[in-house]
Amino acid sequence: MNNRDILTQKLAEAKLGGGQKRIDAQHSKNKLTARERLDLLLDKNSFEEIGALVKHRSTDFGMEELHYPGDGVVTGYGTISGRLVYVFSQDFTVFGGSLSETHAEKICKVMDLAMENGAPCIGLNDSGGARIQEGVVSLGGYADIFYRNTRASGVIPQLSAIMGPCAGGAVYSPAITDFILMVEDTSYMFVTGPNVVKTVTNEEVSSEDLGGASVHSEKSGVAHLTAANDLEAIEDIKKLLSYMPQNCEEQAPKKDYQLGDEMRNELATIVPQSANQPYDIRDVIGGVIDTDSFFEVHENFAPNIVVGFARLAGRSIGIVANQPAYLAGVLDVPSSQKGARFVRFCDCFNIPLLVFEDVPGFLPGTDQEWNAIITNGAKLLYAFSEATVPRITVITRKAYGGAYDVMNSKHIGADMNFAWPSAEIAVMGAKGAAEIIFRREIQAAADPVVALAEKEAEYAAIFANPYRAAERGFVDQVILPEETRSKLIKAFAMLENKVATLPKKKHGNIPL
Ligand code: HXC
Repeated sequence: MNNRDILTQKLAEAKLGGGQKRIDAQHSKNKLTARERLDLLLDKNSFEEIGALVKHRSTDFGMEELHYPGDGVVTGYGTISGRLVYVFSQDFTVFGGSLSETHAEKICKVMDLAMENGAPCIGLNDSGGARIQEGVVSLGGYADIFYRNTRASGVIPQLSAIMGPCAGGAVYSPAITDFILMVEDTSYMFVTGPNVVKTVTNEEVSSEDLGGASVHSEKSGVAHLTAANDLEAIEDIKKLLSYMPQNCEEQAPKKDYQLGDEMRNELATIVPQSANQPYDIRDVIGGVIDTDSFFEVHENFAPNIVVGFARLAGRSIGIVANQPAYLAGVLDVPSSQKGARFVRFCDCFNIPLLVFEDVPGFLPGTDQEWNAIITNGAKLLYAFSEATVPRITVITRKAYGGAYDVMNSKHIGADMNFAWPSAEIAVMGAKGAAEIIFRREIQAAADPVVALAEKEAEYAAIFANPYRAAERGFVDQVILPEETRSKLIKAFAMLENKVATLPKKKHGNIPL
């Protein structure tokens, strides 16, 4: 064989991964191969592979006889919609995608390049975890990756798709990245699998029930997005990326937009007349942003807060919104965590924040207190207070109690605060307030029920509106719902060159 033939043969071997039989097995599980996934993810002909011929160095357990070029992970760079990204895609057909020393080195190499060149790093995970035959060098390889994930956090966007097993300490690399997408039915994540669970706690649980996509998207909140199959997951990655800049020093790409008639009459009738009636905050979001531009993340976790990306006049923004349609939009432990994480992501990557506020307060009760609503609510407060991106709040209805302060109030650095005429800004709802401050008068009244109603009305007349706050300047403008889009476009344009810096420090100490 001449030199060219040798190269051709080696590259063909690398392309075949663990062999046709294992590729067929992968397909039979409804999973694409590592290379097929990259083909779908990256622009046509843009992928350049790095380290296709890398081999493992292991010699124990007969491993010196077993070599697959590339060693179970396809790594390199390419473009998505013309923008540079670095990628690694684990190849389950080679030793179950398990992570060897060299497999880890390949991943570290693209992570280092991503950091040095300021471009996102996307990991497609499908792996049986640490390569069992290699022992500690494999564990060390994981730690090398975790370390880089942490150093890269806030510098470049890092996205993880879980497209097969992800178990043991291996879960901690995705966990440190910015977003986790899981494929339904074919992926799972857990620190200890069902067998260990059974041994230690005697609990019987399937992989799906322990750490499948629905568990992590609804119960734990570990997964931000789920997809029905590999193809959908890949489309979601591309869409997610379209809202983000390449790195922390750049702005997200802007779509062309010609200003026109920005009045949106449909917004005028969304908030019900009765303050206790729910409505879907997504109708408000949808009415304000560019048509069909909302990309919700964490949709199934803590539905009392809605977070996601959108575009306003072509600009990428992050939205955080109380959801009156679920638990009246109350703030609790999971919703505080969800909101805080999203706010911090947007702030890392210069994505302006838009908050829609309709919140009756924090959820009372032992469950909340024992699960540290104090610490967790403080996360959201801290995240907003620390954010230096342009920040605007629209109070659509209730802004009560501590939640008024927390939800991006002017006092914690919001740049503009709008309120609709339906806004109610007070320490608490009128009924609760009347019961406390007029308790004696109500008790002494001939008809306490009538007295309570009167006092409630009195309190509501004074505070259940946006004008007290506007008189103080805590609300910058009281606006009609239908002019909200127009006002926001102007305000975000006004804030486009905002410069705000934090006091010099090593880093803050967010109440984790
Ligand atoms: C080496 C592995 C492997 C591993 C799978 N394989 N996992 N080889 N190291 N960790 C190999 C199998 O031997 C098999 O090889 C091929 O990959 C496919 O595996 P199957 O078992 O046939 O596939 P499947 O039935 O789909 O089951 C997948 C699986 C199972 C659930 C992932 O393989 C499994 O339980 N693997 C071990 C998982 C594990 O305990 N990993 C360590 C976790 S601890 P052949 O040649 O037969 O095709 C960990 C610590 C990280 O990762 C710590 C970081 C701090």
